[in-house]
Amino acid sequence: MAIPIVDRALIVVVLCLFSAMLIECRVRHYKFNVVLKNTTRLCATKPIVTVNGQFPGPTIVAREDDTILVKVVNHVKYNVSIHWHGVRQIRTGWSDGPAYITQCPIQPGQTYLYNFTLTGQRGTLLWHAHILWLRATVHGAIVILPKLGVPYPFPKPHKEAVVVLGEWWKSDVEAVINQALKSGLASNVSDAHTINGYPGPVQGCNSQKLFNLPVEPGKKYMLRIINAALNEELFFKIAGHHLTVVEVDATYVKPFKTDAIVIAPGQTTNVILEANNKSTGKYLVVVSPFMDAPISVDNATGLATVRYLTNSPSVLTTTLTAPPPINATQVADTFSSSLRGLNSKEYPVRVPQSVDHSLLFAVGLGVNPCSTCVNGSRVVADINNVTFVMPTVSLLQAHYFNTSGVFTADFPANPPVPFNYTGNQVSNFQTTKGTRVYKLPYNATVQLVLQDTAMLTPENHPFHLHGFNFFVVGKGSGNYNPKKDSKKFNLVDPVERNTVGVPSGGWTSIRFRADNPGVWFLHCHLEIHTTWGLKMAFLVENGVGPNETLLPPPKDFPKC
Ligand code: C2O
Repeated sequence: MAIPIVDRALIVVVLCLFSAMLIECRVRHYKFNVVLKNTTRLCATKPIVTVNGQFPGPTIVAREDDTILVKVVNHVKYNVSIHWHGVRQIRTGWSDGPAYITQCPIQPGQTYLYNFTLTGQRGTLLWHAHILWLRATVHGAIVILPKLGVPYPFPKPHKEAVVVLGEWWKSDVEAVINQALKSGLASNVSDAHTINGYPGPVQGCNSQKLFNLPVEPGKKYMLRIINAALNEELFFKIAGHHLTVVEVDATYVKPFKTDAIVIAPGQTTNVILEANNKSTGKYLVVVSPFMDAPISVDNATGLATVRYLTNSPSVLTTTLTAPPPINATQVADTFSSSLRGLNSKEYPVRVPQSVDHSLLFAVGLGVNPCSTCVNGSRVVADINNVTFVMPTVSLLQAHYFNTSGVFTADFPANPPVPFNYTGNQVSNFQTTKGTRVYKLPYNATVQLVLQDTAMLTPENHPFHLHGFNFFVVGKGSGNYNPKKDSKKFNLVDPVERNTVGVPSGGWTSIRFRADNPGVWFLHCHLEIHTTWGLKMAFLVENGVGPNETLLPPPKDFPKC
């Protein structure tokens, strides 16, 4: 006799509950309804696109090695896809999410079941929409706890809290980017920075509520901080308290103390906050942009509070603090230089010691002619002079089914013409267009130097690689010098991440092992730069045997 679907679901839940008492249920089900939601809280003029009506969206909570099933149902008029940022997706590129890279988007009225396993990962990550500018409001946290019975490599905090930082536009974000694309100019900056969905004071908006973290004196709290903003790197600081950094991008680091953290879009940082202040009351939490180039950003400070819970009816005085200045390069630099992989027996740093593919990617902005644009030209972005053109079917499908004419596997390993990248005597700003990928055999080791260029202006680019973590072996200012700079690389305990900033007018060197077959996006995580073409993809071939081979696409895979 066939069991009706409802009963079957019930049986699964009961079985899960029962097994949770013995061992944990290792498959976690989520349903993401992508819906419009009216929100007056933020003085928006239009309803926003959300998951399940929540902003930020629901948190996915799981343990290392769990399998996650997320059924996404698209109820809005936009095409949708969701990316599980930082999840390695070993052999499951079909669930990675970037539209037209690994999948066709989920069309209005359609459904797709993302299915992936959190193999060997624990910590904080985020999920977000990976199409158009929808991730402005379609994002949320992924909390991966260690396997049952495995402790953190630091004292267990009393409590944990997810802290999602965002950027807020009063108007519709799709209108913001469409207008920018029409004009060929930069997009409008946001109107506020949010902390767990609450902004600080916004002009012309009388929403007063702030996110508050209640703390007990003497106890320790772990904050899982996520930068879900579109275009801005952020400082995060709490009045009267140090923060101890213990993890970034779901990898443990050697703990260190800091006054402020700097966090780029797509990055996550776990810090321990010790509620050790003598005078109780409230402490201000501030979030503000970091920008050390002549680019306009949203200067609004996002606010929240940490409030001590005490029995004494003390007056609730608020201790204030100011964020670092907007161009505090030194603060950002000191912070990123302090990050080191934990490199313990349990969590070794497996940085490749030798390199099969040595790549130099010059990244930056350019200008191309555009007859319909305001100045007769359009700002674009490029890697090695290639402005990436999105295909109309996904690269992963084209690769898997051997469809020709979608991409070429000839992405340049070096800039076509070397120049003084960080000087400003360039006369030709024009770029080439193409859907070009760089092919890697399975298990190849890659060194990739990301070199900022000052063509239009130097700027910090937070680069994100899908499908892998990488090791940040070096960084510096000016032009990368292969002879001199490579000698100083940290091949012992570099930090392991999935998103790293390329400093303004400088370079960053990363290494990774291509041990995940599929097509993997590499792009600047400033959404405006991605839109302008600061992106490319690696095609990693299958290795030998089923464990090194990309799985076939799922049955419900979306069609273009
Ligand atoms: Cu978080 Cu391709 O992005």
